Amino acid sequence: MRRIIIYYSQGGTTDLIAKTLAKNLNADLVRIHDLKNREGFTNKIFATINAFRETKTDIIPAKVDLRGYDTVYFGTPTWTGNPTPAILTIIDRCDLRAKDVVLFATMDSNRGDSNISRLEEKVKLRGARVIESFTIATKNKKPEKLVSDTEAIIEMKDLKMY
Ligand SMILES: Cc1cc2nc3c(=O)[nH]c(=O)nc-3n(C[C@H](O)[C@H](O)[C@H](O)COP(=O)(O)O)c2cc1C
Repeated sequence: MRRIIIYYSQGGTTDLIAKTLAKNLNADLVRIHDLKNREGFTNKIFATINAFRETKTDIIPAKVDLRGYDTVYFGTPTWTGNPTPAILTIIDRCDLRAKDVVLFATMDSNRGDSNISRLEEKVKLRGARVIESFTIATKNKKPEKLVSDTEAIIEMKDLKMY
């Protein structure tokens, strides 16, 4: 059973969660970097608009080779209830036929579910079978708490099974 976790993280929270998943599930890890500057107030407004409109962006790596993987995780922060441009860009470049997919979204406190719904639509269009999904609220949580919340989800959802 080979697993890969593909994720975007701007501020490091989703990064910590993805690394915790990878360690516990013995999965490979690919962080997608958005080449657009997302720092600062003005760029955050553009980030919101880009996420709302599902605008594609330039990313590194530009593609991920999924041959040999059975289960693919996609993880992203929630931006105004939507997936981030970077994760939508990489999903649209993935062949997910015959892949089991797990989706996860971080959020301050709300609208992670609408993010997951949109991700689900997008990966299904690429041929995926979605087997699990979850959201994690991150606001005011210390790193240790984010790690223990993630480990609790792994147990609760029996993610080691896939
Ligand atoms: C442009 C933008 C829009 C956001 N929209 C939401 C939102 O709709 N709901 C929410 O709960 N958090 C929202 N957040 C907060 C992030 O989803 C949350 O802090 C996430 O855990 C950050 O992950 P990261 O540190 O990996 O980038 C938003 C953050 C940004 C920068």
